Amino acid sequence: MDTTWPDAAYHADTMEPALTIHGLTVCYASASALFSVDYTAATASMNAIVGPNGAGKSTLIKAALGITPRVSGDILFFGQPLSRVRARVAYVPQRASIDWHFPATAYDVVAMGMYRELGWLRPWRRPHRLRVLSCLDQVGMGRFASRQIGQLSGGQQQRVFVARALAQNADLFILDEPFAGIDAATERAIATLLHRLAGTGKTVICVHHDLATVPEYFDFVMLLNVRNIAIGPVRTIFTPEKVQEAYGGQLTPGQLDRLRRDLACRSVTPATTPVAAP
Ligand SMILES: Nc1ncnc2c1ncn2[C@@H]1O[C@H](COP(=O)(O)OP(=O)(O)OP(=O)(O)O)[C@@H](O)[C@H]1O
Ligand SMILES: [Mg+2]
Repeated sequence: MDTTWPDAAYHADTMEPALTIHGLTVCYASASALFSVDYTAATASMNAIVGPNGAGKSTLIKAALGITPRVSGDILFFGQPLSRVRARVAYVPQRASIDWHFPATAYDVVAMGMYRELGWLRPWRRPHRLRVLSCLDQVGMGRFASRQIGQLSGGQQQRVFVARALAQNADLFILDEPFAGIDAATERAIATLLHRLAGTGKTVICVHHDLATVPEYFDFVMLLNVRNIAIGPVRTIFTPEKVQEAYGGQLTPGQLDRLRRDLACRSVTPATTPVAAP
């Protein structure tokens, strides 16, 4: 048994990428959802995973986290197996995969993010409760703390799950379409929040669908469609041609023109809008 963990985990791997995937293959029934995929996310960076519906984006994340079994592939978080650094990794699943009838308040859901750190039996003290409320405040959901999660709107539910990830105080945040169903102001506010996290040394990986905002929100992008199409800095990888390749040629000339225009006029400056009250 390794008795030096977790301290060694925190100090020995500062130069390791937050996530490294090599040769990941995942099959459902007989079809490959992912075939021999490689991926790296450097620490303290903003990373997007982009591809069409069914490209395997959620599968990539779930297989990396051990939620979905893999046929093959080596996966390391901060240079180590997930089991040794699990507390450092926060995950916000795709909305459609969450059971919203779960009987818990927004406060409870966020508090769950702290159980790994505090344990189920340790008493909750005032600083812990304040941290939960602060995380809810950061996503503009402070006044909904006592509302049942099933009684929130889709976008509000999504924000609560982002708050839960914040409460976990992780080093790597993996979010599967965090902006789905969120209004524009809140999207920009959460994007700003994620940028701030990356600025403090945290790593953010988002599955992201809005092609127009990729250059604005992210430093690095992976274009995925069952296989790796391209991976690298947004400014060099995220070209209309490569995006079209990832989408299997399905983007219309109009969509491509819009993407060209968006790429030409978008700056890489993060959004600065504060979180709006809902
Ligand atoms: N539990 C499952 N059983 C069988 N097939 C599945 C399962 N989950 C996903 N698939 C299939 O695997 C492929 C990849 O699915 P995945 O959910 O990873 O795609 P995605 O890129 O996240 O798509 P979306 O943009 O729609 O969220 C799809 O063809 C999907 O139908
Ligand atoms: Mg998905």
